[in-house]
Amino acid sequence: MKCKKCLFIYVQFILLMLFFYNFGSQSNDSFTNPQQNFESTLSPPKTDNLEEALLKLNEKLLLSENKEFSQNGEDGVIQEILKQFLNKNRGNYVEIGAGNGIESNTRYLRENNKWNGISFDFNNNNQKLNVMMQKITHMNILKILKKFKIDHNLDLLSIDTDFSDYWILEKILSEYHPKIVIHEINQQPPDECVSVTKLNGLALWDNNSKYYGASICAYFCLAYRFDYSMIYCESQGINCFWIQNDILREKFGKLSINAIRNVLNATFLFKEQKEKYQEQNRRSWTQIEKVKFYSKPNIVNF
Ligand SMILES: *[C@@H]1O[C@H](CO)[C@@H](O)[C@H](O)[C@H]1NC(C)=O
Ligand SMILES: *[C@@H]1O[C@H](CO)[C@@H](O)[C@H](O)[C@H]1NC(C)=O
Repeated sequence: MKCKKCLFIYVQFILLMLFFYNFGSQSNDSFTNPQQNFESTLSPPKTDNLEEALLKLNEKLLLSENKEFSQNGEDGVIQEILKQFLNKNRGNYVEIGAGNGIESNTRYLRENNKWNGISFDFNNNNQKLNVMMQKITHMNILKILKKFKIDHNLDLLSIDTDFSDYWILEKILSEYHPKIVIHEINQQPPDECVSVTKLNGLALWDNNSKYYGASICAYFCLAYRFDYSMIYCESQGINCFWIQNDILREKFGKLSINAIRNVLNATFLFKEQKEKYQEQNRRSWTQIEKVKFYSKPNIVNF
């Protein structure tokens, strides 16, 4: 540019354009921001009918069960949880133990809701559904999540490796804060606060026995430790769902987490197993103390 004055005017013009552009898009945002149009399907209850609201939520989740690609009714439950609690169209997920991805907890989110995410399985690859073959243990999981640049505040984590879920999940929660957590349980009586498996990163399910995973009570306490509440277990009693307490507080207003824990307690959420748990191998279980506070529990081996 030959004249200095022209350059000055030109720069001023650009700055002015930028100003209007910014101004325009900001005011536009406030009209399109879905947060402002969002209407919760459950109106915030007064504290005295919190119990009613939580039981109603549980009933709603039961009615919402629907199987598209999930093992049981998880697909429908996830959709209802999103409708109730997560005000967003797109989200991200991690699924650990997704098999070949065809039957999984996140395929419907991926294909129907257009979510992004990554799945891992020790035995399968599936490029189309972004399933990576990778053996996940409590020792390598943080490194792997870091390698794939997983958002620390991801929307949904599903875990079902048939063995060390408790220990892997505990490790993940030490650094990551998924809004929704789904996991398998070992269907022992709800007052048994045990991880069936010992902390052994390399072990796998024997494909036959009941020696895998952890009890509902163990997960119930784990949720509490990391500021989550277990809000539902699907009707086959295999998979349970947690949500961050902050999200519950947003919906239900100021509330006592203990009040939630009393209404949606492990005994209530537990669905009777069809086949009674056999007491075999009890000596190799790990007892996990019920925790009342946010402290790490003492772990006692039988
Ligand atoms: C269980 O079955 C899978 C294949 O379905 C196999 O890869 C795995 O090694 C088996 N686990 C054990 C402990 O035998
Ligand atoms: C568990 O929850 C159910 C349903 O809210 C309630 O009726 C029951 O009294 C609770 N049990 C305990 C031990 O808190």
